[in-house]
Amino acid sequence: CGIVGYVGFRNATDVLMEGLKRLEYRGYDSAGVAVKVGGRLEVLKKAGKLSVLGEVLKDEQLPGHFGIGHTRWATHGAPNDPNAHPHTTEDGQIAVIHNGIIENYLPLKEGLLARGHRFTSETDSEVLAHLIEEKYDALADSPGRLVEAVRRVLQEVYGAYALVVAHQDHEEIVVARTVSPLVIGLGEGESFVASDVPALLPYTRRVIFLHDGDMAVVSRAGVEVTDLRGNPVEREVVEVDWSLEAAEKGGHPHYMLKEIYEQPRVLENTLGGRLHEEHANVELDLNLDPARYDRVHVIACGTAYYAGWVGKYLIESLARIPVEIDVASEYRYRDPVVDGRTLAVAISQSGETIDTLEALREAKRKGAGTLGVINAKGSSITREVDDTLYIHAGPEIGVASTKAYMAMLGAMAMLAVWLGRARGTLAEADAKEFLGELRKLPRLVEQALEQRAHVAHIAEKYHQAADYLFLGRHIQAPTAYEGALKLKEISYIHAEAYPAGEMKHGPIALIDERLPVVVLTTDSPFYEKTLSNIQEVRARGGRVIAVATEGDSEARRFAQDVIYVPRTHHLLAPVVSVVPLQLLAYETAVLLGRDVDQPRNLAKSVTVE
Ligand code: G6P
Repeated sequence: CGIVGYVGFRNATDVLMEGLKRLEYRGYDSAGVAVKVGGRLEVLKKAGKLSVLGEVLKDEQLPGHFGIGHTRWATHGAPNDPNAHPHTTEDGQIAVIHNGIIENYLPLKEGLLARGHRFTSETDSEVLAHLIEEKYDALADSPGRLVEAVRRVLQEVYGAYALVVAHQDHEEIVVARTVSPLVIGLGEGESFVASDVPALLPYTRRVIFLHDGDMAVVSRAGVEVTDLRGNPVEREVVEVDWSLEAAEKGGHPHYMLKEIYEQPRVLENTLGGRLHEEHANVELDLNLDPARYDRVHVIACGTAYYAGWVGKYLIESLARIPVEIDVASEYRYRDPVVDGRTLAVAISQSGETIDTLEALREAKRKGAGTLGVINAKGSSITREVDDTLYIHAGPEIGVASTKAYMAMLGAMAMLAVWLGRARGTLAEADAKEFLGELRKLPRLVEQALEQRAHVAHIAEKYHQAADYLFLGRHIQAPTAYEGALKLKEISYIHAEAYPAGEMKHGPIALIDERLPVVVLTTDSPFYEKTLSNIQEVRARGGRVIAVATEGDSEARRFAQDVIYVPRTHHLLAPVVSVVPLQLLAYETAVLLGRDVDQPRNLAKSVTVE
């Protein structure tokens, strides 16, 4: 969910709405603001998208310079008006916004009900407002009264939270975090709070990332950070280098399309300065000792998981280390066999996905060394791992991940080279050749993008299909899965992916003339095998869309449609091949009139389990 808070001299409603717009990708089934107007907190909240709230605010201006706002992605309670944040006490003096989950909220709520509190929502978050009120009333009048009340409440609750509290009599925002992210923005005579950096970019670049267990009092004068016991802590002020323009659409109709087109540049950023052909190695600035590890566990969710799966083939091929890969939510509970010679690699765009974070903690508890492959600087995962390999994709706004995936692939390829060189499994000449191929990739991705019109034509042909099947072998199996995921996420067409060779053991029963089948059949040692899979599909009347290597005329004989991608090392084929699949999903979703950047039910970053 998205959080914004403001205290300063500007129109608070404008700042809140502008910030929330930039965070809407984090969740969006309701939204609300609380702004101090004439000494009282006025609250407006609405189910639906942010624009619904925007409409209401047009008629009901809330002039004020102090306020908090939220976009919600429902966990406890349906997405309706009362369940939207902020939540207030009955007298309306205190307003609270909360991301995360209060695990012991039920007994706390029963206690409050018994003491005469009345609730207006079904959320766990409202409990916090009432608890703070009780503690506040029990304290003597003093400037630190609000923060002390919040501190006392936090001793009693457990769970995950990014908590933001406003009181009508205090021109300060009290915030606290465990697990769920919070960032403070610093200005001149004004300060900001947000769950993520893009909300702050129009106003300031000087930010403080709160750590787990931090509390802060945010006022016009700045911010004071303490731990939960009230001891002051020092947090570094970070200068963020994301440009505002980078976080906006840059002329494209959707963020997703903009991000698809940014991929050559992103890949250049990921690889930039790190490839050293002359030394037949990469420079990753990692402190890990590669000799210490004899196996790798990759943990990730969603698109990052597929990047990890590609990484498995890369690492196993180049570095000959066995790699296990799990979706994080499974890893955590399968009692994985881990020891000090295991390197756990967590891949995550946001660095905040709770499943990934918890799985990583599990690996760490069991003695693994840990590495994050992460986009968001200073995010939670980066603070808990031994080392981080940043992917440098810049802010990704579209809920369906594209450029972050691309950057993750680049990072995993470099990691494989690094491990291979350290372990002596990758010969100098082979390393040089592979690095040369890596260096060419941004240009090749650029060429792959030139297929857009052709892909749009294919999307047009099949956008009424009820199902799609995606097939790929070896390192292109994850590409098939990622292609299916993109299509599902934004077009809502059911799509299934399979390792091509496994198709005959089941999904072949689905094939008829209504089923488009995307087959990744780029050049590789397994090319012939995949071609025979295509023939199996054709023989049963299926419609084949082949993604093949430029110059492959054979593919044309078997497939109704062929999308050509540039030639590269077969272990790097996923990088160029995912591009047309992203475009296919995008064009299909646009044809179907879907909300590309904010598909239903999804959130950009899932910080609840
Ligand atoms: C959510 C998003 C996915 C994303 C996944 C992992 O489910 O909708 O697009 O791939 O989280 O996110 P992360 O930030 O950990 O890469």
